[in-house]
Amino acid sequence: MITRLLRVHPQSPEAEIIAQAAAEIQRGGLVAFPTETVYGLGANALDAAAVARIFAAKGRPAEDPLIIHLAAADDLPRVVRAAPPIAHELARAFWPGALTLILPRGAAVPLSVTAGLETTAVRVPAHPVALALLQAAGTPIAAPSANRFGRASPTTAQHVLHDLDGRIDLLLDGGPTTIGVESTVLDVTCTPPLILRPGGVSREALEALIGAVALRGETDLSPVSDRRPTGKTAQISPGLLDKHYAPRAELILCASPTTARTLEQMGQLAQKFLDEGKKVGLLIADQDRLFFAEGLPAQLPALIFPLGAADDLAQVARNLFAGMRWLDEQGAEVILARSFGRQGLGLAIDDRLRRAASREIE
Ligand code: TXA
Ligand code: MG
Repeated sequence: MITRLLRVHPQSPEAEIIAQAAAEIQRGGLVAFPTETVYGLGANALDAAAVARIFAAKGRPAEDPLIIHLAAADDLPRVVRAAPPIAHELARAFWPGALTLILPRGAAVPLSVTAGLETTAVRVPAHPVALALLQAAGTPIAAPSANRFGRASPTTAQHVLHDLDGRIDLLLDGGPTTIGVESTVLDVTCTPPLILRPGGVSREALEALIGAVALRGETDLSPVSDRRPTGKTAQISPGLLDKHYAPRAELILCASPTTARTLEQMGQLAQKFLDEGKKVGLLIADQDRLFFAEGLPAQLPALIFPLGAADDLAQVARNLFAGMRWLDEQGAEVILARSFGRQGLGLAIDDRLRRAASREIE
């Protein structure tokens, strides 16, 4: 298969380009497109055959359910059985945006989309290209991140091509995505609502609107199965596969209580691996460069990818996956990453780093 690449204006997408992509969706094809979080790999969500092609193209296991994208919250009844009031409240506040809601599956949604679950994941993306495509296609679009299974999510069209060239029909290149980490996945079928995957909308922002929100994996909570109305334990969710975002290189997360200690740790580890003759990559904050340039006995001949200012988590999130991919391409054998805390977007950054990491050092 030849993958067609069409450049599209990220703010005011050209109608004739969108029309071609919409036609591809309508005929059951696969179209990768930018959203505000990461690039998605879209197919008609109500067409089981088209959805099957998504799993094949990505090499994604069938047990991993997809997110359905809608043009507007008004389309919810097309894919959802009954949305509780809290879902409407959240939709009003955060859609279009980086919040995915888990809701009861509507009858029109093929079970392959939801991996057999009676719930479905839904969001309205905040990207002019994604919204224009959804409107023109006139159908809900199922779209996981447009990467090969197990690789970092794509934040540029080049990342998508790298993973999926020749495996999808069309790629809309709308430039780099702005948020850079995936949406927050929030289960609103249980009380309190449960964050299954931290993402572009922070826990703090959710709690400001709806009060306490639980976080999957947090220790002070009763088991998830106890709080699901169905009592089901079959909770398929994002973190299920621990090494989901793994780069090829071994990634070690350095998360000491203080930044100074973290950097010291990173420096020592980098030196150790360099002494062993390994190619070392560093995922650090802009200001850490000084430390690695001057704070060590010898300047480290490591590959350095500065993610952004340590207090500008939006910038760090935007660059995170590109950094992992770049270090992979440069042939890094070990990647040392530093933690950015767990406040705001830090929680999502931390989650992606942990899942990419084979080891964590405190
Ligand atoms: O930002 C995003 O969310 C991007 C863009 C393209 O929208 N999409 C994305 O999709 O990250 P994906 O497939 O890579 O991740 C969706 C996650 C999966 O890990 C899946 O486990 C979870 O959402 N999910 C989907 N349906 C679910 C359900 N019914 N119950 C629990 N988790 C679900
Ligand atoms: Mg994904």
